[in-house]
Amino acid sequence: MEITKKPAKPKGTLGILMPGMGAVATTFIAGVEAVRRGYAKPFGSLTQMGTIRLGKRTENRVPRIKDFIPLAELDDIVFGGWDIFEDSAFEAARKAGVLDPALLERVRPFLETVRPMKAVFDQTYVKRLSGTWVKKAKTWFDYAEQLKEDIIAFKEREHCDRLVMVWCASTEIFLKPTDVHRDLPSFEKALKARNAEIAPSMVYAYAALSLGIPFANGAPNLTVDIPALIELAREKQVPVAGKDFKTGQTLMKTILAPGLKARMLGLNGWYSTNILGNRDGEVLDDPESFKTKEESKLSVLEYILQPKLYPDLYQKFSHVVRINYYPPRGDNKEGWDNIDIFGWLGYPMQIKIDFLCRDSILAAPIVLDLALFMDLSQRLGMRGIQEWLSFYFKSPMHAPGLYPEHDLFIQLMKLKNTLRFIQGEELITHLGQEYYD
Ligand SMILES: NC(=O)c1ccc[n+]([C@@H]2O[C@H](COP(=O)([O-])OP(=O)(O)OC[C@H]3O[C@@H](n4cnc5c(N)ncnc54)[C@H](O)[C@@H]3O)[C@@H](O)[C@H]2O)c1
Repeated sequence: MEITKKPAKPKGTLGILMPGMGAVATTFIAGVEAVRRGYAKPFGSLTQMGTIRLGKRTENRVPRIKDFIPLAELDDIVFGGWDIFEDSAFEAARKAGVLDPALLERVRPFLETVRPMKAVFDQTYVKRLSGTWVKKAKTWFDYAEQLKEDIIAFKEREHCDRLVMVWCASTEIFLKPTDVHRDLPSFEKALKARNAEIAPSMVYAYAALSLGIPFANGAPNLTVDIPALIELAREKQVPVAGKDFKTGQTLMKTILAPGLKARMLGLNGWYSTNILGNRDGEVLDDPESFKTKEESKLSVLEYILQPKLYPDLYQKFSHVVRINYYPPRGDNKEGWDNIDIFGWLGYPMQIKIDFLCRDSILAAPIVLDLALFMDLSQRLGMRGIQEWLSFYFKSPMHAPGLYPEHDLFIQLMKLKNTLRFIQGEELITHLGQEYYD
């Protein structure tokens, strides 16, 4: 890992830019403001609540992560973004219906100041949505230029010293990497030709990276996970991360599956189904957007369970994932899992999970942590894919030829060891022999 600068306390304002100001983004913005005012606590956020052990267990050095590593303070954050609807963050949060109206009312004056800029949007890529608050241009390249103008104006208006971008917009249709995405010259040529293999999310990512702004992708879209944009990130010395916030059912999968494997319990099948009724659910009701999500959700078990290494235990398991749009539920998703496992001598057992979760409540702290850690990476000169942030993603981006690490506990160890490494602290291996010498 290349770290070219020393960690120092950041000065000035950090602007967090979000394409997509829907349920997740507004729950995040309202939440940060509520925490700043002391109305609530930032549960679910590792940067705000987590600790890190340093040195030996006998040393009792366990600072909070935010005291150990120089991250931006919540008071130094401002928010901006784009959406295809003109609603302010207050109006969008009210419509999303995630947060209690009483809490929203208390942060209303602030939320009303956060207004989206006009989006780069094309319905080809998100079939179930159509909006009016959209830019007009001939080519993707022209759109990128307009986004850059937005970003520069935002930075000036809000007196930002640094910016990060986190994609919180709808899931786009499934796109495969092709020659267009192979390298930067091919990609830029396609931008100028408005090629159909370029999606709006790639245009946002291109604009951000061109201006040296880190980009994290909260949806499963291909977006920045293509050689051309990784090349641009390395060239401009900016970090990138993705894809698809790890919340809900997949979070549960990456907590449980490593446990089953650790005890050498076999798996015959894992059936997962969800009902949700928010706008995300409506978008995912379209088979092409669902396909993008499905790919992201399905890969997790294969990588954790390693059927090639454990053919007797995992070679033949059946894995099915369904998402059903059911409006009465709003953002309060219900996810059922039926897990058919087997143990000693092949005797079958079953596990049932019924997770009554709240999608945006689980996603909002991830947006915060990613924004703060991406800003840290940028200040340290850590360019390109930030694999140490896999902890937050369903489909972690990784170097070619590597397999992604999905096990939540390995991901957490990787993240914390990266923080220790940054601060020149000893890495923790959990060997522990020294206590018994
Ligand atoms: N909530 C979770 O637990 C979770 C987990 C993983 C991933 N995600 C992903 O995060 C994203 C946001 O989720 P959400 O629940 O906030 O959805 P949402 O539908 O409430 O918000 C998405 C917003 O993006 C806007 N949008 C769509 N295309 C756009 C474009 N090209 N430019 C600007 N704005 C655009 C929509 O108008 C909408 O307001 C989705 O892609 C979702 O799949 C969410």
